[in-house]
Amino acid sequence: MSKIHRFSISIEKDLLDKFDRLIRKKNYANRSDAFRDLIRQELVKRQWQQNISDIAGAIILLYNHQKRELMKKLAHIQHHFQKIIISTQHIHLDHSNCLEIIVVKGRPYQAHKLASSLKSVKGVKHTSLSISSTGKDLE
Ligand code: NI
Repeated sequence: MSKIHRFSISIEKDLLDKFDRLIRKKNYANRSDAFRDLIRQELVKRQWQQNISDIAGAIILLYNHQKRELMKKLAHIQHHFQKIIISTQHIHLDHSNCLEIIVVKGRPYQAHKLASSLKSVKGVKHTSLSISSTGKDLE
């Protein structure tokens, strides 16, 4: 962990009041914690937009496994993207619904491409992609 620096910022009273309300709402311990979190969020967003470094994330898939050819198609796509897939978890939700969590690490565009390929398979009811950081650029 790098050395902690202290600095002061000038800010309008109204804006600071709004910030403090947000801090309370989100249960931050103090302004410093909230500010650090905002900076990290921006850095992750930038990393994601620029496509220049790896991200870590998770794709969540909900599908009906009884749909014809669906499992075969999903496996085919995942094998194609095996370089960015770290792990998958399959949960049998009920008689026909399955939930799959696919953990990825790679360039943001690859994660998006994988998520949209899976989404386009007939029988997939819902997909979501959550992107985080590998942590390296946030220290
Ligand atoms: Ni299942």
